[in-house]
Amino acid sequence: MKQLYIETYGCQMNFADSEVVASILSDEYRLCQTAQEADVILLNTCSIRENAEQRVLKRLEELRALRKKGKSLKIGLIGCMASRYQDNWVESHLVDFIAGPDSYRFLPEILSDAEAPQIRTELSTDETYSGIIPMRYQTNGISAFVSIMRGCNNFCTYCVVPYTRGRERSRNPEDILQEIRTLCEKGYKEVTLLGQNVNSYLWGGGYGFPQLMADVAKTGHEMRVRFTTSHPKDLSDELLETMAAHPNICKNIHLPAQSGSSEVLKRMNRKYTREDYLERIGSIRRILPEATISTDLISGFCGETPQDHEATLSLMREARFDYAFMFKYSERSGTYAAKHLKDDVPDEVKTARLEEVIALQRELSYESHRRDIGKTFEVLAEGPSKRSDEHFFGRNSQNKVIVFPKEGTQPGQLLNVTVNNCTTATLLGKITR
Ligand code: 5AD
Ligand code: SF4
Repeated sequence: MKQLYIETYGCQMNFADSEVVASILSDEYRLCQTAQEADVILLNTCSIRENAEQRVLKRLEELRALRKKGKSLKIGLIGCMASRYQDNWVESHLVDFIAGPDSYRFLPEILSDAEAPQIRTELSTDETYSGIIPMRYQTNGISAFVSIMRGCNNFCTYCVVPYTRGRERSRNPEDILQEIRTLCEKGYKEVTLLGQNVNSYLWGGGYGFPQLMADVAKTGHEMRVRFTTSHPKDLSDELLETMAAHPNICKNIHLPAQSGSSEVLKRMNRKYTREDYLERIGSIRRILPEATISTDLISGFCGETPQDHEATLSLMREARFDYAFMFKYSERSGTYAAKHLKDDVPDEVKTARLEEVIALQRELSYESHRRDIGKTFEVLAEGPSKRSDEHFFGRNSQNKVIVFPKEGTQPGQLLNVTVNNCTTATLLGKITR
């Protein structure tokens, strides 16, 4: 059998897609561990920020060295960058073929038939990879990802995703529940449902995300269930109530704010104001008082003034985010912002603002961790901690990492751990019986 090597960049959705790709190619290719051994190398790429694309370009330059006389090696670019860069890359001989996120079913043909089109980047309105069971090759056997929808219809003005992944479409709930059953049978302990905007999941007119969550929680009652990402404009109280009703639905909500200034949010086409966002935070605190809230923030978007930046800092304090992913605005060609708004915040200012945002979040995360000292959480043990073999790490329902002395723990065990100390990044604790 020929050997396939897949390298994945970007979001969890891309990691989930790589498992779909491995499955599509599994009749003819066996996965291998290094690029050196491979007959086919796939780079599953991300376009979200310029530096993500640059990493891939650099990697392609490195891989050039593996092309040797007499050895037939094929290198393919798949994922979000495939949708954006087409002919010029094949021409440059850095890659042999290109397949965008909706073209993975063509991969066997692309690889076996030199006459077949080697560039497939058309986006579909209905491809959901129905009937393909992902090959779970990247997992620790404890947690898995299941995508429940593909694409995005929101058109935030900074974002390439609607262009790289196309229109939003939901997967059939029966397929999703079948995947959940299979994971349960295989002994998985945790599943994360994935979508760009899970709250707009819709099947057959009336079956929405709260119904799907309830069915997943019941079907996978022996597993923990997580989901990401929620768009603030669509996060409903009904979903929060569903989360409250099912103990196995984890109590963490990832709710990207992007900015704390209503004016910037308007230019971003986020369709909510600062007040709307804080109202949603209020609902989460009321219905799910034990939940953590995490977010994404962008510093230095087009036209962002010092006051807008201050508004982001004050939103962070008001919302008391438990953790955050923070980025500098990176203009992406093809987006509304690239075409119609001026990328006018100087890079040094973007960097300085981002640093302030990161410093504040560090304080907020530390305070959030300090509030947990003395509390006991149910923790899913994942494996040995990075720093010491004598310690294990795991996560609580709130998605915080807890490190604790091993004391015979096995990966996949659920344990009660009492927090007795913390750093900005982790909780430290001890198993309580
Ligand atoms: N520049 C910087 N950050 C971006 N994100 C999306 N597009 C851009 C961009 N052009 C961030 C958003 C999003 C996260 C996945 O990446 O915060 O929520
Ligand atoms: Fe994921 Fe967006 Fe990057 Fe595509 S561009 S891999 S959807 S983060």
